[in-house]
Amino acid sequence: MEYAHIDVQPVAGALGAEIHGVDLGQPMDDETFGEIHDAYLQHQVIFFRDQHMTPDQHKDFGRRFGELNIHPQYFPLDGHPEILPVLKEPSDANNIGGVWHADVTFFPKPVMGSILYALEVPDVGGDTMFASQYLAYETLSDGMKDMLGAMTATHSDDTLSDPDSARKRNETRSTKLREDSNGGPNIASEHPVVCTHPETGRKLLYVNRPFTQRFTDMTDAESRPLLEYLYAHSQKPEFTCRFRWEKNSVAFWDNRCVQHYALNDYPGQRRSMHRVTIEGGKPSQ
Ligand code: SIN
Repeated sequence: MEYAHIDVQPVAGALGAEIHGVDLGQPMDDETFGEIHDAYLQHQVIFFRDQHMTPDQHKDFGRRFGELNIHPQYFPLDGHPEILPVLKEPSDANNIGGVWHADVTFFPKPVMGSILYALEVPDVGGDTMFASQYLAYETLSDGMKDMLGAMTATHSDDTLSDPDSARKRNETRSTKLREDSNGGPNIASEHPVVCTHPETGRKLLYVNRPFTQRFTDMTDAESRPLLEYLYAHSQKPEFTCRFRWEKNSVAFWDNRCVQHYALNDYPGQRRSMHRVTIEGGKPSQ
């Protein structure tokens, strides 16, 4: 794809590109926005360096892509319900997102994507990894693709299935789940195991470890071996890229076709991010 308004440098064979030549904090013309949108669809996760955005500018950039999501489970930034602070203090044992996952797939309409902005990063460590679920699907055998293509699965959050473990996590990290909110009645949903991306039309594998509970009409025990196979497959190194954060870096991932993993390898250091998330639609076959 040719880009006239931005410079796009892929960072890995599988997915991910760094974009240069744009200031996300300033109003953006439609041509530049269109190219960023194209790069986002093509590369699945895009990165920017040296950005300077106030919370309002961060939200304005997000709004170019759609309505902003207000996370129903976590405390937001003061005065900005659409911004989720992703914070790990030096004394925290756990971080947010320290397992391969796609965000909130337990909702009927999981979010489209998130724009994560680094305010403070450790000297070393705290990278985020991303894995293309297009490649995860495309590299399955034809037999497996046919079988999975006819299946759906239940996704749910452990604030519902295992509230004790959710409560324990709260004690070991600074980004807190609100005790008064479990996301409401829509916290479990059924989705196809193979979905079609609504904008690119490409097929992708749609299961993830923290949220996919079981295949429809099967027990947890019956589902587990195949789910474990698919989780291991979906995070193969050749489907991934890894982003080394700097202060003022931005990562914007497509939650519809990418899983991500926030490494927790910086004990005793602080990492502080702001996340703006865009509403999504119902995944479909
Ligand atoms: C998340 O899962 O949204 C957090 C990602 C990160 O902190 O790198």
